[in-house]
Amino acid sequence: MDFLLSEEQRVIQKTVRDFAQKEVAPSAAERDEEERFDRHLFTKMAELGLTGIPWPETYGGIGSDYLSYAIAVEELSRVCAATGVTLSAHLSLASGPIFAFGTEYQKETYLTGLAEGTKLGAYGLTEPGSGSDAAAMKTTAVKDGRHFVLNGSKVFITNGGEADIYLIFASTSLEKKQRGVSAFIVEKDFPGFTIGKKERKLGIRSSPTTEIRMNNCRVPEENVLGNVGDGFKIAMQTLDGGRNGIAAQAVGIAQGALDAAVQYAKERKQFGKPIAKMQGISFKLADMAVKVEAARLLTYQAAWRESEGLSYGNESAMSKLFASDTAMEVTTEAVQVFGGYGYMKEYPVERFMRDAKVTQLYEGTNEILRSVISKQLFPGDL
Ligand code: CAA
Repeated sequence: MDFLLSEEQRVIQKTVRDFAQKEVAPSAAERDEEERFDRHLFTKMAELGLTGIPWPETYGGIGSDYLSYAIAVEELSRVCAATGVTLSAHLSLASGPIFAFGTEYQKETYLTGLAEGTKLGAYGLTEPGSGSDAAAMKTTAVKDGRHFVLNGSKVFITNGGEADIYLIFASTSLEKKQRGVSAFIVEKDFPGFTIGKKERKLGIRSSPTTEIRMNNCRVPEENVLGNVGDGFKIAMQTLDGGRNGIAAQAVGIAQGALDAAVQYAKERKQFGKPIAKMQGISFKLADMAVKVEAARLLTYQAAWRESEGLSYGNESAMSKLFASDTAMEVTTEAVQVFGGYGYMKEYPVERFMRDAKVTQLYEGTNEILRSVISKQLFPGDL
């Protein structure tokens, strides 16, 4: 068993850490305040090769692995969780399924642009009436000659409105539920495709979240991803990878909050000494450090399994569950270490705490993940 990162993984870690410090951190608070997405940052990530980390060079990627990708999301999220999820949704949710299930035409036409970062991707599964019960979707797709005609709406779309390519799940047969779902690659300019309301959020405010609408949206049949009727499994398998991206985001948020709390505890003096010298604070920081490291190990393990071609769905459900709960706990404790200052916008920990919350909610609420994990404990019917 080897816990050391490879030379390539270390280079990627250092490159993203430097980039995050120099280019992402300085504007993070302002972008959060203004709820402003910065496409320029995405383009800079593309120039570093981050938008195609695990994909082969033939499709515009840099041919690295899923652990390097997790490390990149972690390092971005350490300073700005919104930038972390931009990359995670683009890479795991939009590009990943095209790489795994796409035809050669789809890979050349869509994956290459996504990997090179000239295109931004998004994933549309959730609807107003179907969140955790993803199979209850109402969006329909009806065959019409060499096209499918999509009607319906999707909500909570990360990268919505900014993305160029959307992976949309729609039902070709509502009565078949899960087995009636199909996946479609939809370009933002396809007729009948429009962007709806932009959400105002508690955290990750510089990551856009919108509604999208399909009103007789015509999608060429060559844009069906996988087979008609395989969409639900594609959606689930995609979320297996996506959940580990969110785990990496949560580890980054928690590490960022821990870094800030440690620094503050050294500088802040009360009762004539730095508060780090008080056991009430230093033990709190020690507990925070242990949890962050445990969350990181689970996350890296799931990413490593994905890179090795081993099963990783259960492990990524565990990593997302544990890392997101850790992020919520650690950021809340970081605010506590800062005392009243932690509650103010002057310091980044209140943003980390707001950002942490969503990691317990999206890509499967932690209750759904507990249900996924417990199913593995009781295979077959009880
Ligand atoms: N991989 C491959 N196939 C899978 C699978 C997986 N991980 N999980 C389930 N399946 C298959 C099953 O084997 C089954 O196949 P058969 O029909 O051949 O038997 C089929 O899918 C149906 O499975 P279930 O009966 O378990 O399906 P279900 O309807 O009971 O739902 C669920 C299961 C786990 C609750 C699922 O609906 C789920 O994950 N819900 C949460 C949805 C979610 O995570 N949404 C997040 C939205 S995206 C987002 O948040 C993005 C963002 O903003 C960043």
